[in-house]
Amino acid sequence: MFVLVNLKTYPCDPVAVAEAVRDVNETTDARLTVAPPAAHIERVAETGAETWAQHVDPIDHGSNTGHTLAEHVADAGAVGTLINHSEQRLKLADIDGAVQAAERAGLETVVCANNPAQIGAAAALGPDAVAVEPPELIGTGTPVSQADPDIVEDAVDAAASVDADVSVLCGAGISTGDDVVAAGDLGSEGVLLASGVAKADDPEAALEDLVAPL
Ligand code: G3P
Repeated sequence: MFVLVNLKTYPCDPVAVAEAVRDVNETTDARLTVAPPAAHIERVAETGAETWAQHVDPIDHGSNTGHTLAEHVADAGAVGTLINHSEQRLKLADIDGAVQAAERAGLETVVCANNPAQIGAAAALGPDAVAVEPPELIGTGTPVSQADPDIVEDAVDAAASVDADVSVLCGAGISTGDDVVAAGDLGSEGVLLASGVAKADDPEAALEDLVAPL
């Protein structure tokens, strides 16, 4: 299972969480990754944890003040990027451009979407993976795999009907190993989560719990 811990802009110590991701990753067959804010990518990557960006813009080098260039996050040590997270929505043409920018920089891509119809559209853009995250469940602690299992299964079907090779992930409210197992049982190849680790008193213990049943 692919497990991406999105630190959003939570007030956690990104290096401490990354060190926990790195250490717990050594104990499991799951692939644990961490997505810090862009400004923290370099020092998070230096821990040895697999590091992802939360976003890249559909741009090339040039006059783009305030934007995030795919090559910059790759140079800082990111190996992949989220695109179109629910908290950083893009227009379809810009999702396409961001996927192309990420691929140009050698980054792996996960395009997020709200529902199965959007998952189909996202899969058609050729990312490595798509991730379905119902916005209303994000940050609630109620796992999508329990509250809305149909949306995960329908997302898997929608993606497969467009591109048999694209991986499907899910996220929102996931915080326990049982949630991860339930996601896998619905056909998901991985999970995105944030608050369950980034807001935990002991992020390493939260990560150990996540991968314990895998
Ligand atoms: O990117 C993952 C995120 O949106 C899910 O957040 O706090 O529900 O795990 P959370």
